[in-house]
Amino acid sequence: MDYKELMAEALKARKYSYSPYSNFCVGAALLCKNGKVYKGCNIENAAYTPSNCAERTAIFKAVSEGERDFEAIAIVGGKKGECGDFCAPCGVCRQVIAEFCGKDFKIILGNADKIEEYTLETLLPLAFTNKNLQ
Ligand code: THU
Repeated sequence: MDYKELMAEALKARKYSYSPYSNFCVGAALLCKNGKVYKGCNIENAAYTPSNCAERTAIFKAVSEGERDFEAIAIVGGKKGECGDFCAPCGVCRQVIAEFCGKDFKIILGNADKIEEYTLETLLPLAFTNKNLQ
């Protein structure tokens, strides 16, 4: 699957965003090295802090199904009713990505018209990982 197709999956996931408090809808699609794709959306909560970002929804779904080898994640986000714009992952999601993915893991930002490719290393330099604990 190419990264434009992965972004199309993220746009599909975004339709299920449960975001009544922020009205900011995010979708993510995580590509495993075996070719499988796990989709996720943001899921908010009246108590706010239990809310979960789209990226973590996708990653937790995949890890809970036995997947740990990931190639790329596509992310799209924006105000409800708009087509979605560049939405960079929050710091917590970058840290969760770093738990499972190496420096070359690809982070694809964009929307239906345009995508940009980043690496985990670019978005989270000097990451704190399990290597620090050894
Ligand atoms: N959000 C994500 O799902 N992913 C991000 O990378 C940034 C923020 C969600 C969290 C919250 O539901 C809404 O967007 C506004 O912050």
